[in-house]
Amino acid sequence: MRFLSSRRRHPAAKALLLVLGLFVMGAFYTVLAPAGQSSADTGTSQQVEEGRALFAVGCSSCHGLNGEGQASGEIQGPPLAGVGAAAVEFQVGTGRMPMARPEAQAPVKPNRYTPEEVAALAAFVATMGPGPEIPDPSQYDPAGLSEEEIARGGELFRTNCSACHNFEGAGGALPGGKYAPSLYGVSNQHIYEALITGPQQMPVFSDGVLKPEDKREIIAYLNTLHEEPSQGGLELGGLGPVSEGLWGWIIGIGGLSAIAVWIAAKGAKAK
Ligand code: HEC
Ligand code: HEC
Repeated sequence: MRFLSSRRRHPAAKALLLVLGLFVMGAFYTVLAPAGQSSADTGTSQQVEEGRALFAVGCSSCHGLNGEGQASGEIQGPPLAGVGAAAVEFQVGTGRMPMARPEAQAPVKPNRYTPEEVAALAAFVATMGPGPEIPDPSQYDPAGLSEEEIARGGELFRTNCSACHNFEGAGGALPGGKYAPSLYGVSNQHIYEALITGPQQMPVFSDGVLKPEDKREIIAYLNTLHEEPSQGGLELGGLGPVSEGLWGWIIGIGGLSAIAVWIAAKGAKAK
């Protein structure tokens, strides 16, 4: 009887399911894809006004209406004059900001602003004082680097970064409930922005400390780490906080597989 009823299913049902599957995939992509490059660093006045409005709603409770900061009370936030557009893109793009609740360190979480909104927030904060601008893709794109240059990136990483992030970039704990996060799967733009803005205890790596080509070499080296996260032996990555994007990705792929299996099963029954 079951089979009879499924035979009566409209012939378009399969196509509809496929469309639904694609839609879910698209939705996941939109949620999980790294925020695109926001080109307008200088910020049009309209963008600044849009950013001011978004800031008043999402950020001012901790950072003050004009980013002057709030040092007392239950919810606190540092002043933002001079942190620059790059710091906003990094903090909001990685989902650290807006912080959900006071804690030792803002965790990475899904970013709930569109690239346009992030650019507007960045443009508004940039009016508070001069600071690092959102980098151009040419600054963090490691394409075309040779094997030697990538190996040099690995050396620079072990010299400058491994004390906090572990020699394989797996991350590590710091005093006071803080931590240097795992660097697997962090976008090239966010690596570059972390270098030029120095979030939390991380030092700022200005071009005097790490030249622009050094930065690209380090980024290229980090990319090889997430291509082959485990080279055998014990997986130490579990020590650092696993990036939520990774879990989102696993669940996303899992969900898609489930949908594919389901469609196949339904299709077989309908025959
Ligand atoms: C619940 C309070 C809270 C909210 C809401 C909040 N922040 Fe923050 N913000 C903080 C705290 C606390 C820090 C410093 C701690 C840290 O970086 O982990 C911080 C740090 C920052 C920094 C880094 C400053 C630096 O010196 O590099 C930026 C940029 C920033 N916030 C922007 C924003 C923006 C933009 C929003 C709104 C979308 C926002 N924040 C919402 C509390 C908050
Ligand atoms: C003194 C310790 C320290 C050193 C040295 C350091 N970092 Fe960090 N790094 C941190 C901390 C702490 C954070 C997290 C900041 C936060 O969450 O606000 C961080 C964050 C990052 C992030 C952001 C990761 C994410 O999940 O969004 C990247 C990328 C990064 N560091 C790369 C580097 C690189 C590359 C170097 C070397 C050139 C380096 N760091 C050196 C402490 C350090």
